Amino acid sequence: MLEAPPTIHSICCIGAGYVGGPTMAVIADRCPHIQVTVVDLNAERIAAWNDADLTRLPVYEPGLDAVVGRARGRNLHFTTEVDAAIAAADMVFLSVNTPTKTRGVGAGQASDLRWIEASARQVAAASQGHTIVVEKSTLPVRTAEAVKAILNGAQGSGGGKTFSVLSNPEFLAEGTAIQDLEGPDRVLIGGEDPAAIDALASVYGHWVAQERILRTNLWSSELSKLTANAFLAQRISSINSIAALCEATGADVREVGRAIGTDSRIGPKFLQAGPGFGGSCFQKDILNLVYLCRHYGLEEAAAYWESVVGLNTWQQQRIARLVVNSLFGTVSGKRLAVLGFAFKADTNDTREAPAIRICRDLIEEGAQLAIVDPKVDAAQIARDLEHSPVSADAAAGSRPLGADGSWLAAGSPIEAARGADAVLILTEWKDYRQIDWASIANVMRRPAWLFDARAVADAAAARAAGLNVWTVGEG
Ligand code: UDX
Ligand code: UDX
Repeated sequence: MLEAPPTIHSICCIGAGYVGGPTMAVIADRCPHIQVTVVDLNAERIAAWNDADLTRLPVYEPGLDAVVGRARGRNLHFTTEVDAAIAAADMVFLSVNTPTKTRGVGAGQASDLRWIEASARQVAAASQGHTIVVEKSTLPVRTAEAVKAILNGAQGSGGGKTFSVLSNPEFLAEGTAIQDLEGPDRVLIGGEDPAAIDALASVYGHWVAQERILRTNLWSSELSKLTANAFLAQRISSINSIAALCEATGADVREVGRAIGTDSRIGPKFLQAGPGFGGSCFQKDILNLVYLCRHYGLEEAAAYWESVVGLNTWQQQRIARLVVNSLFGTVSGKRLAVLGFAFKADTNDTREAPAIRICRDLIEEGAQLAIVDPKVDAAQIARDLEHSPVSADAAAGSRPLGADGSWLAAGSPIEAARGADAVLILTEWKDYRQIDWASIANVMRRPAWLFDARAVADAAAARAAGLNVWTVGEG
């Protein structure tokens, strides 16, 4: 007879970021009998997760405040007491960040696994009895091997510690994280220990139908995550390449997208042309895939995936160049309003946001940017642009020719547009669909432009208000 899977009473998650925080909040909400403790080295972040004011959680996600509000203090806890949380846990999730290495072997492509390694060592040292270790971070294929080797060291050193390692990649998208977690297309669990797999499946089984829980070996699970992100990113580069062709030939990429999207083999999703993909995962995961292909001598496969990232960079540079060319070949000393800085709507995350490269290029060209985003604060924009803002007073009135580029934070689209030669829409925030273009046009310098890189604005209304309008993918 098969042994019953161990029942999970206590979960610890290392890493209280965009993945760990929302994922654990939903597990706690759906499994009131499991104690869920989220730990992080960053005390400020933990304090923010514990903030009595739920509008000040460190991650902005629609619906997250309600989920945290229901579970926090009951069976959802946020703390910096890492060792105690590991010791109490039957199951530990690793949800720490794994950015692209900036130096050493594999720099620019391979993932930096130092935090995964440190977390595995901490689990090895602090755990008690049998612990199921779940990789939640997106990792290069065969990382579980390294995690296992570290844990096996502790297993051999006495103290009755034993471990099982599982891979359980997260497919949530920011902005819809709660929806994605509560009703996932699938949950993927990779591993070799059937009892551990069953234990994790039974946690998800509280709200996910068993047929949606896929079981694979460890390596397939790790590779599936990289592949899913690479395919999604590839669709965006594909449609963006067609957008450029549409602009050149007079076709409309939205019509093309609709026409191909009704082919059930292609499907309608992820065909939105834009300023290129951002976010913490797509570029990093593709570069990981490129590194792995090269490592195994598959040069053509590596070059194929590398071109997806290359096209994405090109699209961002193309948009910045197009703005400069339209404004008579120079933006030096000109005010440009930038609407949206987050990498997509409904998140405060700016990692790899297309706005970063586009704004940097325009500042480099001497532009004076007035940037507004409903959820991203000025301090974050300053870090991303590696440039402090100028004050609104200093910017007012002066239009020095050939001046150095600069930026300032604006409070609203109309404030950003005041005195500007152009408005650029870089994030598809819902509010930007409802902008009153007559009022905006009123405060701009003429001739004035709208560059809509997300195709969300009411272009007809903007044209009627006297603006020259460029919409991505519209010929
Ligand atoms: C990260 C990875 O980027 C992603 O690939 C993976 O799928 C999940 O983890 P995210 O949650 O968005 O995604 O990252 P981030 O918001 O940076 O959160 C990671 C957290 O881990 C940070 O709060 C960091 O302080 C914490 N951390 C990191 C630790 O607590 N301990 C460490 O040793 C390292
Ligand atoms: C992605 C994956 O979707 C998710 O499954 C994985 O777990 C993490 O990476 P995320 O990066 O949060 O999620 O958001 P996503 O909605 O995938 O968007 C990524 C980028 O692609 C954004 O910059 C978005 O604006 C862009 N995008 C998306 C397009 O330009 N066009 C589209 O049609 C879709």
